[in-house]
Amino acid sequence: MTDTTSPFEIDTALLDDPISFMEADHGRIAAVCDRLQALIKDLRHQQSHEEATALVTILTRDLLDHIADEEDLFNLLENSGKADKKLTDIIRVLRAEHAADHGPISAISAELKRFVAGDDMHAPAKFFVNAASFAENQRRHLTWENCTVLPMSRDLLSTEELAGLSTQMKNRRNR
Ligand SMILES: [Fe+2]
Ligand SMILES: [Fe+2]
Repeated sequence: MTDTTSPFEIDTALLDDPISFMEADHGRIAAVCDRLQALIKDLRHQQSHEEATALVTILTRDLLDHIADEEDLFNLLENSGKADKKLTDIIRVLRAEHAADHGPISAISAELKRFVAGDDMHAPAKFFVNAASFAENQRRHLTWENCTVLPMSRDLLSTEELAGLSTQMKNRRNR
């Protein structure tokens, strides 16, 4: 079976530079959105089963890790006292969007697992709507983060603070 997960792998050496790793993760999430939208156009194609398996792993493991990484970053910015009102307001909205991600991730993954197992989707029409909406929301969210919180973090955080964040992210992936 073709390993369809590999195109989504990120060089773990990048974890030494946590902001660059988050940017690379955004590239991966954008690629996942592309694949998810291609998948809903062609669910009958056999290749789609392999696609779906890879997507479930990324949605339920890597995307949740990414969200947890960013929550650590937000806490660091706030606890260091370096987040001004503008950045604090941005973080509040991003946190709310992260919290809202869990429902769609769970619902989309559950349907993809049924599809991979050869079972009928519980609610295929809802899956199509959820997947399209999720992809659109993720693209908007990551673009905003790329333009705001990530470059601001590079400017505001010290080498020591970024090293601490790097350690948290490595520990998360060594579980
Ligand atoms: Fe985020
Ligand atoms: Fe992000």
